[in-house]
Amino acid sequence: MRVMGIETSCDETAVAIVEAPAGGGPVGTILANAIYSQLAEHRRFGGVVPEIAARAHLERIDGLIEDALRTANLGLADLDGIAATAGPGLIGGVMVGVMTAKGLAYAQDKPFLAINHLEGHALSVRLSEPVEFPYLLLLVSGGHCQLLTVRGPGDYTRLGTTIDDAVGECFDKTAKLLGLGFPGGPAVERLARQGDARRFSLPRPMWRKPGCDFSFSGLKTAVRLAVEKLDRRDEQIIADLCASFQQTVGDVLADRCRNALVMAPTATLVVAGGVAANLYLRRRLEAVAATSGARFVAPPQNLCTDNGAMIAWAGIEHLRLGRTSALDFKPRPRWPLDVAA
Ligand code: KG4
Ligand code: ZN
Repeated sequence: MRVMGIETSCDETAVAIVEAPAGGGPVGTILANAIYSQLAEHRRFGGVVPEIAARAHLERIDGLIEDALRTANLGLADLDGIAATAGPGLIGGVMVGVMTAKGLAYAQDKPFLAINHLEGHALSVRLSEPVEFPYLLLLVSGGHCQLLTVRGPGDYTRLGTTIDDAVGECFDKTAKLLGLGFPGGPAVERLARQGDARRFSLPRPMWRKPGCDFSFSGLKTAVRLAVEKLDRRDEQIIADLCASFQQTVGDVLADRCRNALVMAPTATLVVAGGVAANLYLRRRLEAVAATSGARFVAPPQNLCTDNGAMIAWAGIEHLRLGRTSALDFKPRPRWPLDVAA
């Protein structure tokens, strides 16, 4: 079974082709994974501009589809389905991906699969490792911060979510305040390696509170106040603030996962989403899993940030169950994972 996955919900235009045994069985093979990052187009605005993103997706999508087919040495007729992110996300971009996928599916008489972007992240770990359902998932990205029990494709229970900001956004904001550019996560992680995490004492919202909800706005404010006071020319102090910030985030994520493993025990803790690329945070979560007797799994770093392969894989998981989407499926700017399609 070969499925094309199209991702256009934010600032990455991505097209991938993934192959897997039709009858089930773990892990897929990525035959092509083309990504065009629009970073350069958005950089001078310090964040993603929805209108610019939608136009850039439109300009690039056809070329990326051709690239992916060429790399995989396949024609459209060789595919068993076309999957696209159908929400949640910036709606102009989502519409570009969905309309392209529907057009290809209709022209080739192949199944169309409308994929929830969050489900792409949630199932991505199974593309590269044989992880059985159910598992506990910490989904941490630029727009989301949630803990979920994943029972199977389309079958999720949310245990907790952020009551204000997402953790990736908090990394991006910290980087912006420190003049480190966008996106902030990788830059903060890099500097944190040279920093002393004991230098700044930052608040840990929700830490040691019951339940699994998150909050990051107080931490964001504390970072802003700290930045206002420091000498920006002092590279060491900037590294120290990055390290303190990252450690604080690690404390909070670890604490919330510890609670989740008690509330809804599973054999496996999985982390996914862009922030899951962070190696320090992975180590912290691995330690929590170990103390709870759970296995810890994270997707390869290049599959943590947005990509087409995770969308193709989610398409395969649904197609294997005989589920496809109608060609009149409407793109959804909001689409919680624990609500049935
Ligand atoms: O999943 P993703 O590519 O897009 C969304 O669906 O939001 O996540 C992007 C987010 C950004 O906020 C970025 O700063 C963060 O993931 N990120 C990281 C790292 N790499 C990307 N955060 C912390 N450490 C990293 N190494
Ligand atoms: Zn994402």
